[in-house]
Amino acid sequence: MAKRRRKKQQVVAPPSEPPMRPGIIGLSRTVPASIPKPPYAESGDPGPSISSLVRSPAELDAMRRAGAIAAEVLIHAGKFVEPGITTDKIDEIVHNESIRRGGYPSPLNYRGFRKSVCTSVNEVICHGIPDNRPLLDGDIINIDVTVYFDGVHGDNSCTFLVGDVDEHSKMLVAETYVAMMEGIRTVRNGSKVHDIGRAIERHARKHNLGVVREFIGHGVGTEFHSDLQIPHYYDPRAKTEITTGMTFTVEPMLTLGDPSLYLWDDHWTALTADGRRSAQFEHTLVCTDDGFELLTVAENGDTAAELYAPKSDAVS
Ligand code: MF3
Ligand code: CO
Ligand code: CO
Repeated sequence: MAKRRRKKQQVVAPPSEPPMRPGIIGLSRTVPASIPKPPYAESGDPGPSISSLVRSPAELDAMRRAGAIAAEVLIHAGKFVEPGITTDKIDEIVHNESIRRGGYPSPLNYRGFRKSVCTSVNEVICHGIPDNRPLLDGDIINIDVTVYFDGVHGDNSCTFLVGDVDEHSKMLVAETYVAMMEGIRTVRNGSKVHDIGRAIERHARKHNLGVVREFIGHGVGTEFHSDLQIPHYYDPRAKTEITTGMTFTVEPMLTLGDPSLYLWDDHWTALTADGRRSAQFEHTLVCTDDGFELLTVAENGDTAAELYAPKSDAVS
């Protein structure tokens, strides 16, 4: 009789403790009249997407500036991540830092979002609304910063470790960053949208991580979210060819357990249904003739993820 190979032992992370609960959300912050605002800032309604998928050279230059500001604001916010700081304080820091650099914090009043940044802790997948909850030792938090500057948006996020974090969570955060980069590295003139999701999903599977399907990367430029859709899983229907000058985000959300989700009554906060943790990274990039250029990079070349993400020790 053939020897049966023992099934690989699966180490399953437990649900995150304590479970996340809705907190108290403070007032929306105000933006000085001198800061140029996106069209939805007053009404909350961005309207239908009408922008081209491809940027003009002038728009691309503006996106390098907006992207650098978004990266620098995210890096700055990362310096304050420690046990005891509330997500509302992070909102204040991101809000003021965006304005100090002449930018508008894009989330503010986008489709009615009340705050200037998204802060997603532990089993919150994305779109967490900053509130009065202080960060706890052992938490993980995604801070998603988007800045509108010179008529265009730069959108980026990083998951930070708070104090002493368990090994499952560190692995999740490290491999989510690697997965994003694997997806991004498929991009060049003539590549397909589904190449990105295929690479991300392959990496996630290697590490037994779930891939969230309900939220996807998007075209970004003169509009915060434009028509191009970038699934983070392999969708054979996503045959759209990526061509030089297209600008979009790659922003995978990976989970320690099942990636199914539910929303809180605030209609924004998305959480894993099984209560296990989720991590996310995001860059805005442009497709070039022979590859890609990251746009959400600080003027000195830094990115939040390179500075703060734990390093993956697995060879990918
Ligand atoms: N920054 C998020 C993204 O990556 C979108 C946030 S929408 C908001 O697409 F309204 F919640 F800010
Ligand atoms: Co985005
Ligand atoms: Co974002």
